[in-house]
Amino acid sequence: MRISHPPRIAPVLRGASQLVRSERHRAMTAIAQKPPSKPSSPDFSSGPCRKRPGWTLSALQDAVLGRSHRSREGKAKLREVIDLTREVLAIPDHYRIGIVPGSDTGAVEMALWSLLGPRGVDVFAWESFGDDWVKDIAQELELEDRRVFQAPYGELPDLSQADPARDIVFTWNGTTSGVRVPDAGWIADDRSGLTICDATSAAFAMDLPWDKLDVTTWSWQKVLGGEGAHGMIVMSPRAIARLTDHVPRWPMPKLYRMVNRGLVTEGLFVGETINTPSLLAVEDAIDGLRWARDIGGLPELIARCQENFDRAAQWVERNDWCGFLAEREDIRSQTSICLKIVDPDLARDTEGQARVASAIVALLAKENVALDIGAYRTAPPGFRFWGGATVEAADLASALEWLGWAWQEVRKADARV
Ligand SMILES: Cc1ncc(COP(=O)(O)O)c(C=O)c1O
Repeated sequence: MRISHPPRIAPVLRGASQLVRSERHRAMTAIAQKPPSKPSSPDFSSGPCRKRPGWTLSALQDAVLGRSHRSREGKAKLREVIDLTREVLAIPDHYRIGIVPGSDTGAVEMALWSLLGPRGVDVFAWESFGDDWVKDIAQELELEDRRVFQAPYGELPDLSQADPARDIVFTWNGTTSGVRVPDAGWIADDRSGLTICDATSAAFAMDLPWDKLDVTTWSWQKVLGGEGAHGMIVMSPRAIARLTDHVPRWPMPKLYRMVNRGLVTEGLFVGETINTPSLLAVEDAIDGLRWARDIGGLPELIARCQENFDRAAQWVERNDWCGFLAEREDIRSQTSICLKIVDPDLARDTEGQARVASAIVALLAKENVALDIGAYRTAPPGFRFWGGATVEAADLASALEWLGWAWQEVRKADARV
C-alpha cells in the first residue's frame, strides 16, 4: 500500500526542509557578509601589547620627569613598581624583586650570566626566544655540561627529563608558538639546581608558583600593556645565595652586575636601578599595576585572559579552516593565541598558507580591525592574536568574526587568479 502524507502535513514537511536549507544558507551568507561592527580597538600585538581599558596619556601626568631617578621622588616611584608587583602577584616577602635594564632579554641574560656555571644545565626550548637562551648557553657562555631539549613550533619538549640536581632554564609561555607549560609539577620541590624562568608573556596572566621558580623574568609591555624599556627579575633566596657563592668565569658587563665586592647589591631590589630608567615608562608601569590591583588583582587578570582564550576556542570550533598551532589542549596559551590554516586545500601547501595568511593580515589591517596579527617571523604561517588582560573579550571575538570574513574574501580572490 502506498502511504501518502495527508495533504495537511505535506506542505509542513516541505516547509521544514526549506527552512533547514534556508537556515544553512543564512549561516553561510552570515559568514560571507562583512561583520557590521568593528572591535573597539584593533590592537592585538603580542608586544608592545594593548594599553589597559580607558588608558589615555593623562595616566602619566604624575610622572617624575626632568628629575634624577636617584632623587627621593624618583626612587619612590621605582619602589612603588616593586611593591605593587609584589602585591598583585603575591610574591613572597623573602623573594627579591628588581627593575633591570634591557627589557625581558636583559633580565634573562643577567640571570644566565650571573648564575650559570657551577652545575650542569637543562634547557627546554620550543620557540624562538627559548632557542635564543639555548644559543646563549651553548655558543656564548659555552657551557659544556648542558642538555638541550627542543621541540618544534606547536609542541612541548619532554619536561619530565628535567634533573633536579641541575639548573633548569625554560620559558613559561612561548609567545611565538602559543605553547605554555601546563603546570610546574615537573619541577622538584627538593631540587638542588636553580630554575630560571622566562615568564614574559605569562606574568599577570597565569598562576606562577613561586616555590618552583628561583628566577622569574618579564617585561612591562606584555600583559599589563606597559611601555617597553625595562625588565623585572624576581629571585628566590637560593638564587640570591648563588650570586655570592659562585664567581662566573666570564666577564660580567656592568649592566648584568648584581654583586659588588662579594656582596649582593641590595639597592637593586629597592629601586636603585643599575643605570638610568625612563621615569615616563615607570609611571606607566605604576598605572598598569594600579589598574591590575583595582580590578581584582591576579584572579581577575587570569580570568580576563581565560575569557579571551575561550572566545578564540569557540571561534575555532566553528571555523574548520583554522586551528590552534598547539595541538594539545592543555598546553595552549591563554595570552598568545596562535592559529594556523588547516583547510584541506592548503594543508600541505606551506607557501599557499603563507600567501593567504599575509593577504588576510593585510586586509584586516586595511580595515583597521586587527593590527599586528601575523604569525611570528620564524613561526609557521598563520595568525597570532594577543589575548592578555588588557584585551577585551568582545573585541577579540569581533576580530575573529572578521578573520572568518577575510578568509572568504581572500580565498575568493585566490580562486580568481
Ligand atoms: C618568551 C619571550 N622571551 C623574551 C622576549 C624578549 O622580550 P624583550 O623584548 O622584552 O626583551 C619575548 C618578546 O616577545 C618573549 O615573548
